[in-house]
Amino acid sequence: MKQSSTYNDLQQHIDELKSKGLLQVIDQPIDKDSEMHPLVRWQFVGGMAEADRKAFLFTNIVNAKGRKYDIPVLVGGLAANRSIYGIGMGCAVEEIQAKWERAIQNPIPPVMVEGPICQEVILEGSALQVEGNGLDMLSIPISTPGFDSAPTLTATNVITKDVQTGGQNMGTYRCQLKAPDRLVVRMATRVGGAGGYLHYLGWKKAGHKTMPCAIVLGCPPYVAFMGPQKLPIGVDEFDVAGGLAGEPIQISKAHSVDLLVPAQAEIVIEGLIDLEWLEPEAPFGESHGHVALEEFNLPMKITAITHRFKPVIPSYISQVAPSESSVIKRVAYEPLFFNYLTKTLGIKGVKRVSLHEPLTGLLRVTIITVAQNIAKTEIWRALYGAAFFKGDCGKICIAVNEDIDPDNADALFWAMAYRMNPVKDVQTLEHRGQGHGPKRENDGEEDSTLLMDATMKGPMPPLALPKEEYMVKAKKIWESLGLPPLKPQAPWYGYTLGDWSSVWDAAAKRAVDGNYLENGEISKTQIRNDVTAETKFRPDETI
Ligand SMILES: Cc1cc2nc3c(=O)[nH]c(=O)nc-3n(C[C@H](O)[C@H](O)[C@H](O)COP(=O)(O)O)c2cc1C
Repeated sequence: MKQSSTYNDLQQHIDELKSKGLLQVIDQPIDKDSEMHPLVRWQFVGGMAEADRKAFLFTNIVNAKGRKYDIPVLVGGLAANRSIYGIGMGCAVEEIQAKWERAIQNPIPPVMVEGPICQEVILEGSALQVEGNGLDMLSIPISTPGFDSAPTLTATNVITKDVQTGGQNMGTYRCQLKAPDRLVVRMATRVGGAGGYLHYLGWKKAGHKTMPCAIVLGCPPYVAFMGPQKLPIGVDEFDVAGGLAGEPIQISKAHSVDLLVPAQAEIVIEGLIDLEWLEPEAPFGESHGHVALEEFNLPMKITAITHRFKPVIPSYISQVAPSESSVIKRVAYEPLFFNYLTKTLGIKGVKRVSLHEPLTGLLRVTIITVAQNIAKTEIWRALYGAAFFKGDCGKICIAVNEDIDPDNADALFWAMAYRMNPVKDVQTLEHRGQGHGPKRENDGEEDSTLLMDATMKGPMPPLALPKEEYMVKAKKIWESLGLPPLKPQAPWYGYTLGDWSSVWDAAAKRAVDGNYLENGEISKTQIRNDVTAETKFRPDETI
């Protein structure tokens, strides 16, 4: 029944990860609720380099009651690191941004197919009743054992549609299991939150009692990546996924609800979201790095579960950043910010936008890298633009020059400490929503915005490290001595920051050539008795 397409489904993606050495298969029994996520977590908190992280495929899954689960689980399989994400995107890591831009500008509508593989098995009616059946048969892990109150679907593409236009939305929202035929979906209600929640409000306003919903687990990567992507409201995610794939995404009618789902999905959970009642959901370890406490969210009654013959369940490892969730969002969001500042606002000189990842989790701190010497007004347009592009992003925005590594918090502090005059280069602005984060005691309290221009305001003396050629030469000596391996951390050599003279260059060259005494002869001719100590001396470059 498999339709032919050139883009990978999830299982072909897993094969590709394996062939590229990016898959760790775990065959020993693993408790899905207490062991699975903690094991994978170690690659984010164990001091490993991002490049060494892998996808984990668990094939022998049990729970504390000794129950065995047939369906393997993939954790970190879509974005444990950028290389894994790049494989899903079918391109090199450096090309990801351009590929997103092209797909958003050149969407390809999906194509309908009959007899989709995601419906090879259909469970409904009594197959959704009683412990061990329905949702309870699925090997859904607990993400944050010790805090979460139930297994929770994380790697979802939740499909809903607009009650008026019929246009579909697809977002990645967590869904907590409650019964074999019931779960609770959490759609963010804040400004910039879930597109699905706007649909929920529309269906409710139109007087309906339920809203159809399909929760897809294990989409082809091009489709899966649409879930966390922030597209403008009304843009169809299947069209952009087609743009990524370079061909139409195959879709089919869901079995029991009037929605269109990706044909090559592993599992589709279909049902009706209640528009009258809300049910407590969570605690759940959230991507803002705190545990989301119990709150009322959207109960969904399951009408059918469909799946392919031997499905695999993906589970995103999220919570404290860095995580799979922050990697997947970062590669998706940064190009959108960059496009907005450079194309929509037309700000020249913006080189990069970076969303700070470790612990802060992308949404709070935005670093804008700008070329040196661009107008101050343009730097501030970039700061305001980044702060207000998305309602829930950019609480703290910092502008830096290109020599500052935005991923190095020490370098950011360095820029703030030496290149920023707080009374002139810092602004705070009122009226920011709370955004995605732990709820404060005083719910509904407004947050505010902090903007900092930590760029150089004029030429500065060079960075005081040996020039690159000397450090490179010394590294070779270091290595020949068999000293411990080095991991160079920028900045690791000195470079000019604009305030430097060819005369000083020549003097430095004479010094390393062993001729510093010549420099002494020169400075002897420049002595004065009409200045005080520490008066600046600028050598004449024309001589
Ligand atoms: C692992 C993961 C879990 C997420 N969980 C939720 C969630 O529970 N609720 C929510 O509204 N957004 C959640 N998000 C963020 C949304 O997926 C993101 O805001 C996306 O843009 C929503 O798509 P939409 O704008 O079409 O609704 C999650 C993202 C990831 C990567």
